[in-house]
Amino acid sequence: MTTDERVGQGGTGPGELAPDGSSVDLYVQVQPHGEDELINAAIAPGSSILELGCGTGRITRPLVAFGHQVVAVDESAAMTSRITEAETVVSTIEELRLDRRFDVVLMMSYLINVADDGARQRLLDTCAHHVKSDGVVLLQQQDREVFARNVVRESPQRRVEVADVKQLPDDMQSATMIYTVDGRTWSQHVLVKNLTEETLSAALHASGLALDGYLTPDRGWIRAKLR
Ligand SMILES: C[S@@+](CC[C@H](N)C(=O)[O-])C[C@H]1O[C@@H](n2cnc3c(N)ncnc32)[C@H](O)[C@@H]1O
Repeated sequence: MTTDERVGQGGTGPGELAPDGSSVDLYVQVQPHGEDELINAAIAPGSSILELGCGTGRITRPLVAFGHQVVAVDESAAMTSRITEAETVVSTIEELRLDRRFDVVLMMSYLINVADDGARQRLLDTCAHHVKSDGVVLLQQQDREVFARNVVRESPQRRVEVADVKQLPDDMQSATMIYTVDGRTWSQHVLVKNLTEETLSAALHASGLALDGYLTPDRGWIRAKLR
């Protein structure tokens, strides 16, 4: 199956694919790698969380188990249909306008690194719209080392190949991710724009947000608040 491709995004492989090329069958098999614990440690107990781009609920589920109330949003109904533990909303992030505000707005999976600056601004506008005045926006950004070169990572569970890596102008990178699990293979084309602290701060500012710090020393996890 192939997806309706957006610029710089799209994928191929068995089963249903989200418009960005993410595979439903692949994501149901992937476990958290500590992201859930990192987020839980950064927020108050029993927080209300708006999770943007939740996929099949890989992180939704543990956040609910930690005692948070999560509203999980994804544009792919095939993805959200796998979530039974939390309220779900099928919507693009850009168009989402709920009549509620949350202690935490979470947008992980490098969505902020979308190549198009206007698209990034619309994502951040949605974050700002839904966070409480004393709430926090948590964002996960791309590490440019991930697409510095072609590489293959193999574990007993799966093989991940980063192929066709290109370094592009304007601090953009493209690559094809090829995942193989149990003899099934998916590919996903990605185009990311890396953000300097200056460009990140400016984008946050334009949406009424301000950089408040980082959750990790590698600056992969960003904390922002309303200005
Ligand atoms: C790579 S998956 C990751 C899912 C989940 N965050 C995780 O870590 O397991 C990215 C998800 O974001 C969703 N997504 C990407 N761009 C989106 C957008 N603009 N609006 C809504 N959903 C989006 C995709 O449909 C996909 O399910």
